[in-house]
Amino acid sequence: MSDEPRVRPERRGRRLRRTEPMRRMLDETRLHKDMFVAPVFVVEGEGRAEEIDGMPGVLRYSVDRLPTYFERLVRAGIRSVLLFGVPGHKDDQGTGAYARDGIVPRAMSSIRQSFPELVVMADVCLCEYTSHGHCGVLRGREVDNDGTLPLLSRAAVEYARSGADVVAPSAMMDGQVLAIRRALDEAGFDDAVVMGYSAKHASAFYGPFRNAAGSAPSFGDRRGYQMQPGNRREALREVEEDIREGADIVMVKPALAYLDVISEARRRFEVPLAAYNVSGEYSMLKAAALNGWLDEKSAAREVLTGIRRAGADLIITYFAEQAAGWIKEGW
Ligand code: PBG
Repeated sequence: MSDEPRVRPERRGRRLRRTEPMRRMLDETRLHKDMFVAPVFVVEGEGRAEEIDGMPGVLRYSVDRLPTYFERLVRAGIRSVLLFGVPGHKDDQGTGAYARDGIVPRAMSSIRQSFPELVVMADVCLCEYTSHGHCGVLRGREVDNDGTLPLLSRAAVEYARSGADVVAPSAMMDGQVLAIRRALDEAGFDDAVVMGYSAKHASAFYGPFRNAAGSAPSFGDRRGYQMQPGNRREALREVEEDIREGADIVMVKPALAYLDVISEARRRFEVPLAAYNVSGEYSMLKAAALNGWLDEKSAAREVLTGIRRAGADLIITYFAEQAAGWIKEGW
């Protein structure tokens, strides 16, 4: 022992961290499985359950394979899914997005009856359905905002008609929430919820998703409609605008590099807030885990807890099924 005078701290934070039950009792941020939304990719064809490059553990299913997969999700405790369609045919108008017998309405009809207890959401965008891969129709080399709105509205109405509880416009067209809300109401779907991808940033973290959905733009990029990563004030304006246009739920996307936006949106607005823990965020953690560089379970918990702590009410995440399982085990 040295002769230094001993310091006796007055406040001892460690008292509250000493035992597991104590720590659990005082946990400020808890995850529960009901807040997770599992994204689901639906492909054309039959008997297909295909792996996706860069997204280990996530598969694309054809409509006939969905019921088995959904049973598994429900057994894991998942209560909500977000459907993405991967059509067999693309054209410059993205007609597959709003066709009555399109991939998403067919998927919806096949599961709606058997899984009435699920909250089924459908992404509303043209990028998976357009030959050029942009989120709207083109006028020259520009995406035509106002010409895209009626098409997004038609898609939303078809998805609601086939049983979607929630439609989620992700095209970042101005006025998309308003256009969709009006179209839904006119078609008699007043109860369909609109979740706006309100502050959706032009992000490198969508890379693996674009593999999964085959939706990378064939020229240019999405910076003319998606947001700049550095603009927080603008992100909050987008959220505010979506609320004004009638969004029931708003979203910040991606999640991890935008936790401050989530937190500020939570502080300012009194509506349910979703965060999208996107494909690239999933991939980087998976890659590190598969290399043995990170412990997957605890890293995933930390990430999801961080998103929750920032203020998200619901988290759209490719970890949904695994995370629900881990929670059951006492994660
Ligand atoms: C469609 C859409 C995208 C994502 C969700 N909806 C891709 C994009 O904007 O390019 C990304 C989701 C993810 O990366 O997990 N517009």
